[in-house]
Amino acid sequence: MKLLITGGAGFIGSNFIHHILKKYPEYQIINVDILTYAGNLENLRIWENDARYRFVKGDITDSVVVDSLVAESDVVVHFAAESHVDRSIANPYVFIDTNIKGTFVLLEAARKYNKRFHHISTDEVFGTLGPKDAPFDENTKYDPRSPYSASKASSDHLVRSYFHTYALPITLSNCSNNYGPFAHPEKFISLVITNLLEGGEQIPVYGDGLQVRDWLYVEDHCKAIDLIIHTGVIGETYCIGGKSERENIWIVKKILELLGKDESMIEYVKDRAGHDRRYAIDYSKIEHELGWHPEVTLEEGLKKTVVWFQENESWWKNVKSGDYQEYYKKQYGK
Ligand code: NAD
Ligand code: DAU
Repeated sequence: MKLLITGGAGFIGSNFIHHILKKYPEYQIINVDILTYAGNLENLRIWENDARYRFVKGDITDSVVVDSLVAESDVVVHFAAESHVDRSIANPYVFIDTNIKGTFVLLEAARKYNKRFHHISTDEVFGTLGPKDAPFDENTKYDPRSPYSASKASSDHLVRSYFHTYALPITLSNCSNNYGPFAHPEKFISLVITNLLEGGEQIPVYGDGLQVRDWLYVEDHCKAIDLIIHTGVIGETYCIGGKSERENIWIVKKILELLGKDESMIEYVKDRAGHDRRYAIDYSKIEHELGWHPEVTLEEGLKKTVVWFQENESWWKNVKSGDYQEYYKKQYGK
């Protein structure tokens, strides 16, 4: 089986490549990634000389690049995206290009060669929940509220339209917030840990810090995607979550405790524009139909993540300084 992974140099994509190459010795992977600020080939250093792995620097909005890669693959697993909400508020243009046009270009190639296509999406397409609302599930109406979530919602609609119109063999998953190894330090949990490890830098908590996210350890997300591409029902959507709803301030206090720091490191700052108050996922469908459930509790996952960042200081320091962007040039001579 040959998988085309888009955005494999990013956080979840690189974790997925590790998962697949370790679990399936006979599989091959092509990783197509344009290496934006979020793409980091250091995440995949151990596979560089493995004959089963190939990296292609390319843009998913470029149909010439995409066409030949899709043609030679069996399954497209589509992670590539602009993924950070704050960046979408500051500069939405690239979110429209990559998340909507990029998905469209990939779908066109998949249609041409009739390839199996799995689309990775987010719970943010469903909007925001009140404190007593039932969690999101596969039947929740779309209500995206940021340029990021609106662009992901558009891509979801395109993917489903290719199933209904062209019978393209697609599946789709909407997942809650991930955390773990290789998460860029702009994401909340990585930001809190790295600011504390670095010392000096305060933890910026938006608004009152009582917004709720449903956290999932990234390896559990990878296992869910693995199951869907192998056993998921064509045309279906699966919601994936951690059943680990916590207020942001709870997360901060837990990490402070794990690192033996006090609450003077917290700085309440201006809230994010249009900040969604609460996300939560009901993952009963994938649990009952495919037998998936999260294996790592939030407490265990946070401990593992803190240890990972402690043991991989040069990784996050290179990301924070920008040095990681030199890695590709050194390795590939361009
Ligand atoms: P990320 O920002 O860490 O990585 C995105 C990757 O895509 C990067 O390597 C980047 O270089 C690449 N990329 C961006 N534009 C590209 C383009 N035009 N062509 C080729 N490659 C391009 O993102 P992530 O957090 O790993 O998220 C991966 C996917 O999962 C996204 O689709 C995101 O919407 C979704 N998702 C993320 C989370 C989360 O908590 N991080 C949760 C649910 C769903
Ligand atoms: O829910 C899934 C989504 O989770 C993914 O689709 C996105 O790609 C991913 O970035 C993430 O989006 P969030 O906006 O929920 O994650 P972020 O890490 O940016 O923020 C988590 C919460 O922490 C959110 O309520 C905002 C808050 N926050 C974030 C940052 C960066 C702060 O209070 N301070 C901060 O500095």
